[in-house]
Formats: sequence, structure tokens, C-alpha cells
Amino acid sequence: MKTYSFEKSYQMFDQAQKLVPNGIYGPRTPHFLTYGSYPCFFKKGKGSHVWDVDGNEYIDYMCSFGTNILGQCNQEVDSAAIDQMERGNCFTLPTDRWNELAGFMVDLIDGMDWVAFGKNGSDVTSYATAIARHYTGKKKIIVVDEAYSGAHFWNSPDPAGIPEEYRQHILSFEYNNIEQFKTLVDEYKGDIAGIMLTPYHHPAMHDQIFPKHGFYKELEDICKKEKILFIMDDIRCGFRIHINGSHCYWGAHPDLICFGKAMANGYPISAIMGKNSIKPAAEGVYFSGTHFFAALPMAAAITTMKIIDRDKVIEKIYELGIKLKQGIEAQAKEFGLGIHYTGHPALPFMWFEGDADFSLNRFFCGEAAKRGIFFHPHHNWFICAAHTREDIEKTLKVTRQCFALTADEMAKKGD
Ligand SMILES: Cc1ncc(COP(=O)(O)O)c(C=O)c1O
Repeated sequence: MKTYSFEKSYQMFDQAQKLVPNGIYGPRTPHFLTYGSYPCFFKKGKGSHVWDVDGNEYIDYMCSFGTNILGQCNQEVDSAAIDQMERGNCFTLPTDRWNELAGFMVDLIDGMDWVAFGKNGSDVTSYATAIARHYTGKKKIIVVDEAYSGAHFWNSPDPAGIPEEYRQHILSFEYNNIEQFKTLVDEYKGDIAGIMLTPYHHPAMHDQIFPKHGFYKELEDICKKEKILFIMDDIRCGFRIHINGSHCYWGAHPDLICFGKAMANGYPISAIMGKNSIKPAAEGVYFSGTHFFAALPMAAAITTMKIIDRDKVIEKIYELGIKLKQGIEAQAKEFGLGIHYTGHPALPFMWFEGDADFSLNRFFCGEAAKRGIFFHPHHNWFICAAHTREDIEKTLKVTRQCFALTADEMAKKGD
């Protein structure tokens, strides 16, 4: 099979480095992928397929880090957006979409009475910490080791340029380790405002971990007793695991929930939802952004969530995810390669046993990219509703070749 080349992508990256800090920043930098084996720029997409600037076509398993749950250019979502566009997008005041989307989400999401809108997930996770502090009159926020909750200063994964004081009130514990959580609560008794959890643990470059039986119950009991707000960061899992909020899947009862990514199939919008008892505190915290009120993403969000419900998207991506998981696990076994394939089947993460520096995973994913399959070596993948059984079969043909190449690579390393 002829493999792809990326001349135009890397020419453009050289040019971008002169114009933009790091050329491409954040996790979209080619350095977070497998430098040289991946494109740097895309040109177009349709459904589950994307094309780079060199004209190479890929089956996309990143879906824009999770936004495109219905695939690229979903006609119904785009029509709703265009319909709104013809009436205008950004106004001085919110539009008639404001109450429409708010009402829709309050009806849809289990246990939540109100909603506020931002643009990125980081907007609403940051707002959630401020609400928890304002509500409780306390300062500390507990997060989970290695968990990502956004790029804002209070919990950015990279401390460069951020005064230590910004993180002074952030504590963290090991996922599922309720004893460690209790120790923090005791140590900082009376000073903990909130705990932020993702529905299950999905850090980059680590196995994904489901909550232990009884974890949520025990944690919620402590939160109630100590007046700690329980914030669910459902930005990555949201609308992939349960239509009424991922907390329903595990029987959890958060006080606040943050959504983003998939809720508008790639149109920029995020949301925070909460219980009535917390609404006065939310009203007391300043929250705004010029684009927070834009109508077009709101129109897209309403249509996206309706389609997810109507078309049983969650069941569909689960089934496709299982097919991919079974295929990949069987192939790894066939080539005698130990892999960890963890997490919910619609957002799986794979890496090779003992591959501490991820070099084998970069090799495997890089070889897959050169053959038209866009995985990520460091981050979980995403299945979307536009993926088909044929996509998965085509993917498995490529992964089989990539496992064979990886087995050779491992043998070379062992020499
Ligand atoms: C779990 C989780 N929380 C928060 C965020 C931040 O969202 P955004 O990048 O839209 O600011 C992300 C983004 O990847 C995420 O995965």
C-alpha cells in the first residue's frame, strides 16, 4: 500500500511557525502527534472522513477532539445554523434561541434546573469553581491527578507563565481513592468549596478508569456532610454515554455539570447546568464573553441534541466502538503484542504494554495515519455517528498492517 506524504502540510507548518507562536499551539501541534507521520492542516471533511491539505483522505477517530459526534458537515445541523445565519448570529442582546436552548437542556439533563452558556469547556469549568467558592464561602477545589479540565490558569497542565498563587487553592487526589479524598477533606476541613470529576477518568497517556462500585455514593455523602459542591466535568463524555448526562450512567448526583464539545457538533458553545439551590450563587458570580450569546451555535446545539436522541446515536457509537475494540484486541493478540485498550467503547484509549515513552504507540498511530486512519497516540479516540461498519472494517485492515509493522519494530528494539 502506498503511504501518504505531507509536503504541503509541513511547508505550511514552516510558514505558520514564522507567523504564530509554535506554528500550531496546544494539543493540535504536530509535536503532540507523531512528527512527520501526520498532516498538520486539514482542508475539508464529510461525515467520518477528513482530507488534509495534500489531498490525503482519512477515517477520522479524533472528531476534532470530540466535537463532531455526528460527523463533519451534518446536513441537518448545518441547515439549522444557516437558517439562523440568515437572521443574524451575534447581537447586542441574546436572541430567541436563548430560552429555547435553555428550556431544551433543562428538560433533557437529569437533575438540573438552570443553564448558562459559554464558548469553550474551560469557560464553564472555571465558572463552576467560582460558583462553588461563592456558594460555600470556601476556597479549595479538589481535582483528580492527571485530569484535564481546561486551559485556564487555575488548572492549566503547563505552569509556564502562571504565578503559583493561581493554583494555590487546587488540591488533587488519585482517581477512585476515596481514602485519599477523605484525607484531603480532613486536612483542609471547612475550607473545601468543590470537587470536580469527569464521569469516569480519561487522562491523556494513561489507562482510562471507570468509577469503582460505591465510589460516587461515598463521595457524595462526604460532600453533603462537609458542604462541598460536586461538579461534574462532562465536557468530553457528554452526549456519548447517556442522553440525559453521563452521571445517569453511573447513578451519580452532581450539583453542577459542565458540557461542551459534542453538544453542537463542532459549533462553538459550552454550557454549565446546576440545581436551583445554587442559582443565587451563580447569579452572584460575573460571567460573560462577547461571543457567549451568539445564536448560530445555539441553533446548532438544539438540532444536534435532538438528533442524538432521535437517531439513538449513543447506542450506535457504542456498538461501533465494540466492533473496533474487538477487532483491535484480536489483532494485537495475533501478533503477540500486549495492549491496553481502556475506557468507554465510544471514547477508547489504546497503548502498548511497557511502552512507557509511548514511542511504539507513536509508531503504530503514525503508520496508521500514513495509511488513512487518524488515531491519536496520546489521547483517547472518538467514535462518531457518521462512522460506518465499512469504516471500521477498512480501519481494521490498516491496523492489522500496523500491528505487523509494530511487531517488527519491537523485535528491532529487542535486538
Ligand atoms: C474533560 C474536559 N474538560 C474540559 C475541557 C476543556 O474544554 P475546552 O478545550 O473546550 O476549553 C476538555 C477539553 O479537552 C476536556 O476534555
